Amino acid sequence: MVKWCRVKYHPNLPYYNDGRRVTECDEHIQLSREAACEGMVLLKNENKVLPIVNGKNIVLFGKGQIDYVKGGGGSGEVNGSYIRNVYEGFKIKEKEGKVNILHQLSAFYEDVVKKQFADGVEIGKTTEPEIPEYLLNVAKKYTDTAVITIDRFSGEGYDRKGEEYDGDFYLSREEEKMVKTVSANFGNVIVVLDVGGMVDTSWFKDNDKISSVLLAWQAGIEGGLAIADILCGDAVPSGKLVDTFADSFDAYPSSANFNESEDYVDYNDDIYVGYRYFETIPDAKDRVCYPFGFGLSYTTFDISNITFTQNGDDVTVKATVTNTGDYKGKEVVQVYYSAPQGKLGKPARELIAFKKTDLLMPGESQIVEMSFDVKAMASYDDLGKVCKSAYILEQGTYKLYVGNSVRNTIEVAYTYDVEEQYRLVQQLKQRCAPRKLAKRMLSDGSYESLPTTDEPVEYNYPTLPENTAKAPQEKAMLMDVASGKVLMDEFLAQLTVSELVHIITGQPNRGVANTYGMGGDIEEYGIPTVMTADGPAGLRIDRHCSINTTAFPCATLLACSWDPDLIYRVGEAGAKEVKENNIGVWLTPAMNIHRSPLCGRNFEYYSEDPLIAGVMAAAKINGIQSQHIAASLKHFACNNKETNRHESDSRVSERALREIYIKGFEIAVKTSQPWTIMSSYNCMNGRHTSENYELLTEILREEWGFRGLVTTDWWNTAGQTLEIRAGNDVKMPITRNDTPKDYEDGKITRAEIELSAKRLLEMYMKID
Ligand code: BGC
Repeated sequence: MVKWCRVKYHPNLPYYNDGRRVTECDEHIQLSREAACEGMVLLKNENKVLPIVNGKNIVLFGKGQIDYVKGGGGSGEVNGSYIRNVYEGFKIKEKEGKVNILHQLSAFYEDVVKKQFADGVEIGKTTEPEIPEYLLNVAKKYTDTAVITIDRFSGEGYDRKGEEYDGDFYLSREEEKMVKTVSANFGNVIVVLDVGGMVDTSWFKDNDKISSVLLAWQAGIEGGLAIADILCGDAVPSGKLVDTFADSFDAYPSSANFNESEDYVDYNDDIYVGYRYFETIPDAKDRVCYPFGFGLSYTTFDISNITFTQNGDDVTVKATVTNTGDYKGKEVVQVYYSAPQGKLGKPARELIAFKKTDLLMPGESQIVEMSFDVKAMASYDDLGKVCKSAYILEQGTYKLYVGNSVRNTIEVAYTYDVEEQYRLVQQLKQRCAPRKLAKRMLSDGSYESLPTTDEPVEYNYPTLPENTAKAPQEKAMLMDVASGKVLMDEFLAQLTVSELVHIITGQPNRGVANTYGMGGDIEEYGIPTVMTADGPAGLRIDRHCSINTTAFPCATLLACSWDPDLIYRVGEAGAKEVKENNIGVWLTPAMNIHRSPLCGRNFEYYSEDPLIAGVMAAAKINGIQSQHIAASLKHFACNNKETNRHESDSRVSERALREIYIKGFEIAVKTSQPWTIMSSYNCMNGRHTSENYELLTEILREEWGFRGLVTTDWWNTAGQTLEIRAGNDVKMPITRNDTPKDYEDGKITRAEIELSAKRLLEMYMKID
């Protein structure tokens, strides 16, 4: 196939030369199911109620068994040919002789949900019905084992609720009643949580009437079957939490002012996000129901023979994991550090490395190896308490802990010691400093004041050198650049400013795309338009195209697998579908931090922890780009709230920005070089991120070495000229375009416009 054949001509060609198609193919559906099983987290399992004994009678309660939510809504939606709900999943197990189900009861829920859908209720928003007395009696006679499914839906453009009985973070009154009735009448109660983010877990944690709980997340096309796989023991639970599950919404520090204003959010919790808060701040520990890193198995493990070797700044950790129980399973070894408090104050624990084992049979052992750089334990001194605008390792002893959750660790003999007052790891400059954030939390739970200012944000844009290359004597086509006949700078020299601007402005949809294209489509120079499509849970193609694509599990579930190789495979499979549908840029992965349980798009994001988020995003990007499809890492940065997302100002300290909110992006950029990054809608410390020169040029490109292209988020409200000057190259998807006039008026130079066009065309060179 000649270069750019797919993006230019949109041929109806299968991915493989032998005629095999990949879009929603069996292999990808199977991968989706496998991934779903890997990321589900077993939170509770008393009396070994799970796995369900072979041949047992079970009854399924809750409308969630029918109204199954496979993933969240908005651009993260995926349209497949079917969604396997929990009831259907168990029907397959029944056919296999694993369980018997009381169909009469599930038929009741099927009816209820069907009626609510017919009345216009949306998926995941149905109301829990009352259990009819007669059905309860039939069910009681049938078995002592009940499975309850609770489902939740959220999506782009709005946030979740966190009030008592809201049917969102908390159970609704109807759900609570159903749970009480079922727990009062059955000896074994198993709860399945089909959710996309943090929810209340206090209602089952110490409730001895509920024996088992599977946090099944929103698990994609085969989600219901993956749940049945795990409950019946055909797959083993091996997921571990990537967020802290606290005993109430108020327990999260971000809850205090999440809804204070639609215009701004003050990140007063600073670096104390998630477990960094709960493990550090006095008394916060008691508010945790299920800690970060936690997840049960059907077996037990022993982690022993932990060794550390240091070579320069590189530390290698080895540990032997032994399956000490009587069931097969996988364990995740987690390494945390605790830095000395020093003058800056530090979280009590921070994740530094992790590794999941292979499937271990009873008695089997495996040596796992992990490594990290001691410099990754540095803290950012934004105020100059020790060394201003620098990453430093403060004096003292850095302790290491190894275990299988942030709580269940042992302190190991190895330490890293800094003798001097501090070790300078990296001297940087003040960037993106807050202007209106008045205070931030310290490690003892008190707050310190921060300087505020009313001064507007100004940038010192450098003067970019003009392109001195000469236009070729004969008109050159873009393909001449691809084939090495003409240099990119020579090619660009032939274009007018309005042609350059045209290149960096979104273009109309073509083929099956519905999120528009980029690249100008200038026939005269052979510049094609490359279409984009959404993710992250699979390729999103509009329903009306009648193309079904594979719905993979939501990003949070994938992160709970703690298995980057698996996420690589999901990225690779998704990108194959993207390619088969002639699209060149896949708008995924999304990786904002889970700061508050309420963020409506948490299901699209990985974790409250930047290391997990960064490693998972990097794996996904590598998988995608192995197919010569551009990944788009989004939304850069601090898009942690959906309400008024176009204008809301995230006010955050430089330290929290660097250590938490952009750390994952930094890891992903440095390890996987995404070809594109999407800036976010929101403002950050007073400026739209897409117009933020310090963020997009000084940090992203100059400090981290990002070599790709930055696009806006779709239909954002900032101005294109300032965006280009900031380093945001492409305005998506289509826009009123003042830049040619701004050029005439001397507000932007040709060199600035040309640089963005060049970045876009360089991305084309990588697409095949
Ligand atoms: C979302 C992006 C998405 C884009 C294109 C925006 O509303 O925030 O994540 O990629 O739309 O659909």
